Formats: sequence, C-alpha cells, structure tokens
Amino acid sequence: MGIVFGAVATAVAYFVPWLPAADSKQADRIHFLFWFTTAICIGIFAVVAAVIVYSILKFRVKPDDDSDGVPLHGNTGLEIVWTAIPAVLVTAISIVAAVILVQNGRAGSDALNVDVTAQQFWWQFTYPTLGKFTSPTLNLPVNQPVVLHLKSVDVIHSFWVPQFSQKQDAVPGIETKLVITPEKLGTYPVICTELCGLGHSLMRSTAVVQSKTDFDKWAQQQKAALHGPPGAAGLTVFTAQGCASCHTFTPAKATGKVGPDLDNLTAAAKKAGQPLAAFIKESITNPDAYIAPGFKKGVMPTTFAQTIPADQLQELVTYLQTGQK
Ligand code: CUA
Repeated sequence: MGIVFGAVATAVAYFVPWLPAADSKQADRIHFLFWFTTAICIGIFAVVAAVIVYSILKFRVKPDDDSDGVPLHGNTGLEIVWTAIPAVLVTAISIVAAVILVQNGRAGSDALNVDVTAQQFWWQFTYPTLGKFTSPTLNLPVNQPVVLHLKSVDVIHSFWVPQFSQKQDAVPGIETKLVITPEKLGTYPVICTELCGLGHSLMRSTAVVQSKTDFDKWAQQQKAALHGPPGAAGLTVFTAQGCASCHTFTPAKATGKVGPDLDNLTAAAKKAGQPLAAFIKESITNPDAYIAPGFKKGVMPTTFAQTIPADQLQELVTYLQTGQK
C-alpha cells in the first residue's frame, strides 16, 4: 500500500512541470533542495497514508459491535521512533539548506558587479566596472558569476527572474545583494514581485544572457552610445530613466499608458500657463505641481530631481521639446 501511495505521489511530483527551468547555478542548487525535501515528504506521505488506509480497513467496527475499544496508554517504542526519524530528516534538510545558502551567497573574486536601481515602475542596470553605462535591460555573460547590488529610490521592490529561482528585495536606504551565475543563453523576464504601486504589474524588464563575445560587444556599444551624437543623449536619458514604461512618446517609440501622453506637450503647457521648456522641467522635477486632467497626484515619482544629474536633465528637456509636433 505504501509503495502504491509513494508511486502515485512520485508520479504527480515528477510528471507535472511544477517549476520553471533552472537556468543558473544557484537555481540548480535550489531545485536540488526542493526535490530533496519533496522526496522526504513523499516517503512520509506514503507511510502515513498506508497506515491510515490499512487501519480503516482492518480495524473497522462491525455493525453489531457496541463494545468499547481497548484502553491504550502510550507506546514508548513507537514514540521514540516517530520523534527520532523526523528529527533526523529535519536536521538533514537544515544542513543541506545551510550549505546551499552559503554556496549561493558566494560570488568569487572574478565576479561582475551590476548596480540595480529600482523605482516606480522601472529597473535600471548600471555596469560600474565597464564604463558606468546604464541599460534598461540586464545583460549578462553566460557562466560568469554576477553580483547584483540592489537599491531602491522610492518604495520596496523585489527582483525576480523565475528561471534563476531567487528573489531579492530592493529596499530604500540599504543595499541588498544577489549572486547569479547564468548557465544558458536566452532572454528571461525580470519581474517586480513586491506590490509597489499603480504600475507594479508593468514593472518588468528583460535579462539577456549572452556569450562572452556578444556581451563584450554589447558593452562596447553601450559605452560608445554614452558619448554619442547630439539628441541621442536625450533619448538615452529617456530610456535609462524608464520614462517609456509610463508615457507615450512617438520619437522614442514609447507607448506607456500610466502617465500623460508626451506627444502633445505644447497644448499641455498652454493649459498649465507656462512656457514649454519650463513646463517640461517642472513636470519632471516637481511632478505634483501641475496634474494633467484625468491623472492622479503621487503616481509619477518625485525623486527625479535628485536622481537625474543636471546635464542629463537638460538633455531630456531638450529632447522632449524638439519631439513636439
Ligand atoms: Cu516595483 Cu512592484
């Protein structure tokens, strides 16, 4: 009976795809721990289910049996067994989990550092050792340990790539860390997994795992784009600051719907009674000063005045201004 229950539970565990693929070294270890624990659970389930079903069948009361049961009072041998076995199993799980936790926190000395900035409702990835460029996507070279240094400029967010099996919060005021060693080329979703406001469900990015050669080429291009032709700088700031996740702006091919459309700022500035450039600048640095009809106060982050350097802010204002019809 135990073998039957064990076989059924094993089939349910094995043939149903419960987990996303494990595509990083850390995910492999986490999946091992998951299945190690599940195997123990299946063993216990099989024994318990077999004993219960056997007891129900074997010790069933006959219809005409009105007598009391046998007065039983404890069974020392059995109690020792059902205390000792779980103690051993729980200790085994703790040891395996502790070893994996330590291994997954270790990056080694040749790790690539990436600064991750979370803000409503966008991810920003900066590569401090590769020329300090900033990217809206998280590009990673395959088989290279990476340390993400997570920060948030407003509320608590949480970084999650399902195929990497790890989540880490980005908390205002402190820096949290996450080590990833991707093992497979491909494109993965980066998901915010902490309810952080109106645009939470849209707070997504992409992780791109590339060969070392492709990654180096990409990094070179990003570095070159930092010092690109005039106009490109404004678009770079627009993209890096995540404006596209909330706003529509045709020159940048942005189609966000959380905040006002940026294609018709001339009319909006007239309505607010301000010159265009001043209106754009104020809307970025002090967004609650004027709220476009149909939108709410407090949705647009008020942190851009601190987070966008003055020269980049100027580029952004110019870029938005020249993009008007
Ligand atoms: Cu950021 Cu949810």
